Amino acid sequence: MEKSFVIKGNICQTKNPKELDLHENSYAVCIDGLSKGIFAALPEEYSSLPLYDYGDALIFPGMVDLHVHAPQYAFRGMCMDLELMDWLNRYTFPEEEKYENLEYAQKAYGMCVDALKSGATTRACIFATRHRGATELLMKLMEESGLISFVGKVNMDREASEALTEDSADISAYTTFGWINAVKDKFERTFPILTPRFIPCCTDKLMEELREIQMAYGIPVQSHLSESKGEIEFVKFLRPDDPFYGDSYNDYDLFGKNDDIDTDVKTVMAHCVWSTEEEVELMRKNGVFVAHCPASNMNLTSGIAPIRKYLDLGLNIGLGSDIAGGHSDSIFRAITDAIQVSKMYFRMVDEDVKPLVFSEAFYLATKGGGAFFGNVGSFEEGYEFDALILDDSVLPHPQKLNLAERMERAVYLGLDTKKIAAKFAAGRKVI
Ligand code: GUN
Ligand code: FE
Repeated sequence: MEKSFVIKGNICQTKNPKELDLHENSYAVCIDGLSKGIFAALPEEYSSLPLYDYGDALIFPGMVDLHVHAPQYAFRGMCMDLELMDWLNRYTFPEEEKYENLEYAQKAYGMCVDALKSGATTRACIFATRHRGATELLMKLMEESGLISFVGKVNMDREASEALTEDSADISAYTTFGWINAVKDKFERTFPILTPRFIPCCTDKLMEELREIQMAYGIPVQSHLSESKGEIEFVKFLRPDDPFYGDSYNDYDLFGKNDDIDTDVKTVMAHCVWSTEEEVELMRKNGVFVAHCPASNMNLTSGIAPIRKYLDLGLNIGLGSDIAGGHSDSIFRAITDAIQVSKMYFRMVDEDVKPLVFSEAFYLATKGGGAFFGNVGSFEEGYEFDALILDDSVLPHPQKLNLAERMERAVYLGLDTKKIAAKFAAGRKVI
């Protein structure tokens, strides 16, 4: 029962978006990787478990990064002068081409995984590249990190650089079959996810084959949706008969729950900045997750996703770093950015759409995105035990702060980039 223990400290979480749930000097109990809840006094039945007393430290649920490109970690914080389609062609595709070379992949993916491991993220949905070898290498490194992730070999058979475009839809599908068979039962914490890059990079034939693969294996799906104006125009040109962008995924049953075929295809779509009403309604109906990536949307001049509207409609929403459209792998930073861009949306676009408050953005980063993984993102009973221990004494202050203030300040001031004192994912200590 290595994964059974108790931790003690100041526990901060959000059970719902509306309010913080704070527990000073309390105990969180983990039994075999699952939370038993939070207790002000430790129940007798748990008194013989190992107790880690973190004193006055803050204890948060682990952060969920619902959208990150591991091969782009190498050029984060650079090349921020173009919009999406030009940025892909000029900077991103040439970098991703390098992952044909396993030596480069080992070096670059090693650095990316080290960064995820030492930061606040405990779970992630990760894009690799179109290369099977490097994708398997990334999965092995992720497994060794102890973090929990979905990792996708990217499918792309048109509209990329020559070296990055797969030779045909059949070859792309065949490689994907081989990859899924090799990895699907190989790891405890690392799982394959079907990853058509986005509609511009996938022919109809490839999408048809991915539908077959999804049906054969029942694995989840990740992609991009309605991110930038240039991209959306291009999709309209490529598929003029589709009423909206998301319909192009839905045509191939790669867009969430589908009543017609009575299947639940767990799907996460990054961005959804410019989704039409019809598209949003289909996402809601199908339970498609939105990965909100505010930093990327600013850097690539994509726009501001109306997350308040999506929250009010009851959509599934989490946060993503979208490295390297986003420059930081910190989900604390994504929380801050999500609040800030929602304020700009309110002030500049529509004053009927109220800005996000801290508890809402924290919820998106934990339980919101966590739902893609199951019961994840809080210490409620039955949830998988993902925890961050944060020593905020490194952020000096002269005045007395209450726990809510300490929680918000730790996020806004990026305490995750200074030091994580300890971290657990599904009950395993990873830091
Ligand atoms: N759309 C297709 N590929 C990408 C990518 O790598 N990053 C972002 N932000 N959007 C994309
Ligand atoms: Fe992306």
